[in-house]
Amino acid sequence: MCGALRASDAGKKAVLMGWVNRCRDLGNLIFIDMRDRTGVTQVVCNKELNPAIHKKAGLLRNEYVVAAVGKVKLRDPNTINKNIPTGEVELVAEELRILNESKQPPFLPGETVLPNEEMRLKYRYIDLRRDAMQFNLELRHKVAIAIRSYLSLQGFFEIETPFMTRSTPEGARDYLVPSRVQPGSFYALPQSPQLFKQILMISGCDKYFQIVRCFRDEDLRADRQPEFTQIDLEMSYPQPERVWEVVEGFLTAAFKAAGHEIKTTFPRMSYDEAIRLYGSDKPDMRLPAMTDVREVFMAENLQTLAVNPNLPVIAIRIPKIGELSRKERDEIKPLLTAKGGAKLFEDFKRLEKSFPEAAAKIRQQSRAEAEDLIVVVAGDGKPAEHKSEGGVKPEVKQHDHAVYTAAGLLRVALAQKYAGRHRQFEKTGDPTKDFRFLWVTDFPMFEWDEEGKRWAAAHHPFTSPHERDMEKLESDPGAVRALAYDVVLNGTELGSGSIRIHRQDIQRKIFRSLGMTEEEARSRFGFFLEALEYGTPPHGGIALGLDRIVMILAGAESLREVIPFPKTARAVDLMVDAPTPVSEAQLKELGIRIGRARE
Ligand code: AMO
Repeated sequence: MCGALRASDAGKKAVLMGWVNRCRDLGNLIFIDMRDRTGVTQVVCNKELNPAIHKKAGLLRNEYVVAAVGKVKLRDPNTINKNIPTGEVELVAEELRILNESKQPPFLPGETVLPNEEMRLKYRYIDLRRDAMQFNLELRHKVAIAIRSYLSLQGFFEIETPFMTRSTPEGARDYLVPSRVQPGSFYALPQSPQLFKQILMISGCDKYFQIVRCFRDEDLRADRQPEFTQIDLEMSYPQPERVWEVVEGFLTAAFKAAGHEIKTTFPRMSYDEAIRLYGSDKPDMRLPAMTDVREVFMAENLQTLAVNPNLPVIAIRIPKIGELSRKERDEIKPLLTAKGGAKLFEDFKRLEKSFPEAAAKIRQQSRAEAEDLIVVVAGDGKPAEHKSEGGVKPEVKQHDHAVYTAAGLLRVALAQKYAGRHRQFEKTGDPTKDFRFLWVTDFPMFEWDEEGKRWAAAHHPFTSPHERDMEKLESDPGAVRALAYDVVLNGTELGSGSIRIHRQDIQRKIFRSLGMTEEEARSRFGFFLEALEYGTPPHGGIALGLDRIVMILAGAESLREVIPFPKTARAVDLMVDAPTPVSEAQLKELGIRIGRARE
């Protein structure tokens, strides 16, 4: 391979095959840098030693595929290239073959300047030749293998579940596949194998896992692709802690395969606590928690600031980014994106001037040091009208929730905006060294869906409520907590899971709470409700996003960097150009007529 030769190989004969990374013609000598996925070796074609080879080398262009045979030779000490592992040697060509030519590529894999992403995706095969992409593919492979081996050793079986199936409710739209044999009927591609894995528990499989593709037609972001890969697992008879232990085990193995030691047991935090302390259900623990300084404000009688006394007043501290200039303070104002009335005090110095005692207490309570930035977020003047419904537990009422989450979003946005000022929070620095895992537990069972004016499952409708909240299912759905948990890493949700409902009567009750009629429940999930009646063991599990794990390990900003053939934000594959219209004949066979939607 082109990355293999070392000084100790000097004198040996070697055969290399790979791409022409670069050619340098120095007259009597032509240097070819030959590249494959393992690295680059310099091949020398000497006119005096071998005029025919020298002539052939003169024909080479970038990305030609060549084979070279020759002797490994130590380089002169002043021509050693310390930047590459093969830099002490070169291959003196005795034979050279052009295995294939190449058109001038739209960009060169060996170059450090990247072309725009559209170009990279259209010519993905060239993009994947780049070192960084080869590294990511290898990383993904190692991580997947480590997880497979770990789970297999723990007694889990990898079992395949169908891709052509029926809708599974995970909250996104389905991709549909028309049936030719039954015109007018459609399969749905699975949003996850949720129901199949539960049925595998009913089938006696006990411990199932699968590294599996899932499909969701949803709005795409940097951390969402329409098809993505889950590490999906399910087990019979577990307490949540047992599921967490398995996950911590395979994550340890995966991170180790990528060269990192991680610490277990991961800290645990309830959903309510996460919202109160971090304003988020996926807190980035690399930053300090927020502090509720409402008491200080009230005690110091700060009504003049038009702060709502019924709502939290949150101090956000971002360590060591120093003072913000006036211009910067103006720039951070739009970062507060509150849905309902939150206000920002971005100028702490000014607050300090008018209310020195209060400011000193805020500094003290939020444990601020000299170089730390403090901003305060509060509900604005009007006292909140309390609505009865709210998809959150009573302690965290909806209006409180709005202030907490506005502050939480601002906290992360500030840290990202000023990341360069402090290495710890640099996005592109070395975030791969500081892994702060966390379990977030006790999620609310339901969320109020304002659009549909009904309760929706916060995780999915197969999640078990807490035993002690069972009686509130009908009277106060917003107060019901679920046996649901998320594993979070540095502000990213890596995975979600739950203990499931294993009793048919409770499953029916949940469907009812979600506003589903008996008939609807039967037509959508009849097969599953029936299966639950045949001796279903208590069971639970989780699914983690493989792409997200690899993205974080690669220090990448987008899933597209770790998926070999990804889609754009408009769900298009630019290389194969999919999706595409299909022929009239195909449509006719399927009994499909295209209406207005596509025009
Ligand atoms: P959930 O829908 O939370 O749970 O998905 C689990 C994990 O899958 C990843 N993920 C995605 N990754 C990339 N692109 C997407 N569009 C995308 N959507 C989800 C995330 C997420 O945490 N069946 C349940 C799991 C269970 O209860 O066992 C489920 O699918 O990392």
